[in-house]
Amino acid sequence: YEDMLVENLVRPFILKDEDYKLLMDIMLGEFNKGLGKETNPTAKVKMYPTYVRDVPDGSENGNFLALDLGGTNFRVLLINLNGQEVTMESKIYLIPQHIMTGTGEQLFDHIAKCIHKFMSNHDLLKEKIPLGFTFSFPCKQIGLNHAILTQWTKGFKCEGVEGEDVVRLLHEAIKRRGDIDVECLAVINDTVGALMSCAHSDRDCAIGLILGTGTNACYIEKLENVGLWDGDYNEPNQVMINTEWGALGDDGCLDFVKTEYDRQVDKHSINPGRQIYEKMISGMYMGEIVRLALEKLRKHGLLFGGKGSEELSTRGRFYTKYVSEIESDVDDHFKNTKQVFEELALEKYSDEDCRIAQYVCSLVSTRAAFLASVGVAALLNKMDRQDVTVAVDGSLYRFHPHFHDLMEEKIQQLVKPGIKFKLMLSHDGSGKGAAIVTAVANRLRDSGK
Ligand code: BG6
Ligand code: GLC
Repeated sequence: YEDMLVENLVRPFILKDEDYKLLMDIMLGEFNKGLGKETNPTAKVKMYPTYVRDVPDGSENGNFLALDLGGTNFRVLLINLNGQEVTMESKIYLIPQHIMTGTGEQLFDHIAKCIHKFMSNHDLLKEKIPLGFTFSFPCKQIGLNHAILTQWTKGFKCEGVEGEDVVRLLHEAIKRRGDIDVECLAVINDTVGALMSCAHSDRDCAIGLILGTGTNACYIEKLENVGLWDGDYNEPNQVMINTEWGALGDDGCLDFVKTEYDRQVDKHSINPGRQIYEKMISGMYMGEIVRLALEKLRKHGLLFGGKGSEELSTRGRFYTKYVSEIESDVDDHFKNTKQVFEELALEKYSDEDCRIAQYVCSLVSTRAAFLASVGVAALLNKMDRQDVTVAVDGSLYRFHPHFHDLMEEKIQQLVKPGIKFKLMLSHDGSGKGAAIVTAVANRLRDSGK
């Protein structure tokens, strides 16, 4: 009987095969709406052309600096490309909370300071090294090194940056310091970095996917399908499109699958009404969805004998890594699950509580993996190539024990017969990917193109 009560409260996380099929059709429709010149202004999924036209040919070389902003960590990197050989050094710098939600000037001054520190530590202050900027937020690009932030997503909200060219803001901050000589030649999204980095060794790679703090994908599209393209039509007649699919649902089209837990997460976020698909999938929100569901069960007396803890009732306190840890328990010792309960200062728990918590985690993460699969399958069906490698990066995909398998299974169900795909973990996209794009930009500049 208790099982049935639990089931009733979590059932909304379970979607039917038909729901996923319908969601794929909705996603496809949104891709096309975003690509069309007339329909784009009202589209939520923006399909930004990136000005990155081709995958690397392996001849890229030189030393490059890169910035990686927008994932779990802010990093400065130094990359050396020499054909297939790539070496890099990187350092993580903290971005304090008050800067993430402060002013743009503070943010870019902080970034410039970190670049200075990094260069000083690597004895590079006297050198002039081209820089690539992995800036993982929605941007309307008007060139390879001009990117206008349309809106902040995830945990950032700095005043005076939306509507501005982030490369200009970076250059101004560098100039204010006056003690480093750095020019940013390219700005890319992390999805593009993942794609480029993977394509460096696999020529079939044509989709870049991030499942981390946020979620998003990019892919290679034919120019004839890109209504918004305003660059040249030289070969290759294709361009990478940053879909910014996290915004799917911002017009209400996902309301039919949202649960009360999703609505609460959205309501208490810093960007209510925005990034609805992202909020149902990615790492910044998954732990909180699980926490809300566990709290609901507890309040109904179905968990922990009805007794919670301050931690369990604190917003954001149930980290997404707990979901991965709990689901990694394979026997009924529930070692990780109990460890998580301890961290949440829960005093009384039974094996049954462990089983229920594990069940809730698996429902939420499976839904996330299937929802992400819907997006990938929509892209694969749209591209209609025979063999496609999907480059994947992000902490959620990396650390969750079943995400990869769940996605393979669901994508397989959704793609047209004959399409073959591979999900491949991409390494160092934001470093290697940014360096590759910067190398090409540098070469074009040197050759006066
Ligand atoms: C990292 C990349 O590996 O993955 C970042 O270096 C990217 O550029 C990130 O943004 C996404 O994952 P997460 O989990 O850090 O948000
Ligand atoms: C958010 C950003 C997007 C990024 C993704 C993954 O959705 O808007 O640009 O690619 O997170 O980091």
